[in-house]
Amino acid sequence: MQKISKLSTSSISRRGFIKTSAAGAATVLAGKSVIFAAPAGRKMRVGLIGCGGRGNGALQNCLDAGEHIENLDLEVVATADWFKSKAEATGEKYNVPASRCFGGADAYKKLLDTNVDVVLIATSPNFRPVHFEAAIKAGKNVFMEKPVAVDPPGGRRIIEAGELAKRKGLAVVAGTQRRHQANYRRTQYAVERGAIGKIVGGCVWWCGGALWYRTQNSNESDADYMVRNWVSFTEMSGDHIVEQHVHNLDVANWYIGHPPDNALGFGGRARRKTGDQFDFFSIDLDYGDGVRIHSMCRQINGCDGGVREFFRGTEGQTMGGGGLRGKDISTPDFPEHKGTYCQEHVDLLNSILKEEPLNEARNVAESTLTAIMGRISAYTGKLVRWKDITENKSSPWYNLTLKPTAEDFEKGEVEAPLDDIPAVPGRDR
Ligand SMILES: NC(=O)c1ccc[n+]([C@@H]2O[C@H](COP(=O)([O-])OP(=O)(O)OC[C@H]3O[C@@H](n4cnc5c(N)ncnc54)[C@H](O)[C@@H]3O)[C@@H](O)[C@H]2O)c1
Repeated sequence: MQKISKLSTSSISRRGFIKTSAAGAATVLAGKSVIFAAPAGRKMRVGLIGCGGRGNGALQNCLDAGEHIENLDLEVVATADWFKSKAEATGEKYNVPASRCFGGADAYKKLLDTNVDVVLIATSPNFRPVHFEAAIKAGKNVFMEKPVAVDPPGGRRIIEAGELAKRKGLAVVAGTQRRHQANYRRTQYAVERGAIGKIVGGCVWWCGGALWYRTQNSNESDADYMVRNWVSFTEMSGDHIVEQHVHNLDVANWYIGHPPDNALGFGGRARRKTGDQFDFFSIDLDYGDGVRIHSMCRQINGCDGGVREFFRGTEGQTMGGGGLRGKDISTPDFPEHKGTYCQEHVDLLNSILKEEPLNEARNVAESTLTAIMGRISAYTGKLVRWKDITENKSSPWYNLTLKPTAEDFEKGEVEAPLDDIPAVPGRDR
């Protein structure tokens, strides 16, 4: 093993420096830093589906990115949310006329009927396959938050719509933002070029405290309740192994280069009051060829935790936070404008303007399906193979569809699962 090379900006080896993208170093023009220039007079219209915390954040990140692209005029032209009041609140901030702030189950369709060029999608994950597919069919470029499905058919639908996006020349960027984060990109670049030899194992974690939850109001419909309390229902979020831990699983798939062959794990419920999710999961992911990754996630207060990824290679190891111990590999100066949440949008807009559309649909769908495979194993107690959720139509999990579906919400046929009745391994789902 050689030296520890901390792959931070200050200590990047400049030998063999490679300038990777037009969206690299910013120059300063008329008092404003400019990342790159669009053709003169270029305009793009942006719309947001899902005007919650992340949706509002993503919209601002997109505008912040546009601010630093010379000649680009970004305008927010429409908003959509399950609750019209939320669409209007976001619309008001950006001077969107009330007639273009849509509410209800079909709000996304109304937004897609406008002249919007770029759609940001940040609802709960259960709606993503339907909304993403509709956006691509409508010819829109998309930024969509992770995760992108809650069940195997949903994951496969994202992959198919992603392929359609490629054929149509549309850009798709996903909210698995570590793929746009400079320190992760440098480490991945070095690992891919043999800095730690061949990856043989590792562990990925998202272990933290409890998230928020909401109880059902008297006279509130089950649909409204589930939309408001989505982080408690597997049918809405996929459970937290999918909703949150997908970030770390995405890094494992990215660094290793493919999704796992199978998953066997367990989990349980200890403290939640609403919904039907587990509080913790521990999954053994078998990537084939002797490569195993331990995935662990927990949402319980008062416990030790951490959010990190660690990989052991035949000639070194990666450390949390972007460092590695292994061979010294020169890495490019990957850009990160105003943090990774903004860089995602710089990369999206740059790819549209250069007519070299990024397409991250398959990556994020495979990471989502990896998490779904782990969840199914923990819920059932069974070993679940990748092919059981992607190609083996006789598998009980190939067509596993969580209900109520997105279509049920549109038809107004929503019955919330009973609170506090989780899966029982050896017996269920
Ligand atoms: N990349 C990240 O680091 C990150 C961070 C936070 C959240 N997220 C993801 O962003 C998404 C949203 O999370 P959030 O924290 O903003 O949740 P949120 O509850 O604050 O917002 C979700 C919004 O979507 C709306 N909505 C739900 N169903 C809808 C439908 N069918 N049509 C239109 N609008 C609908 C809700 O009313 C709500 O306003 C989730 O997928 C989450 O996992 C990603």
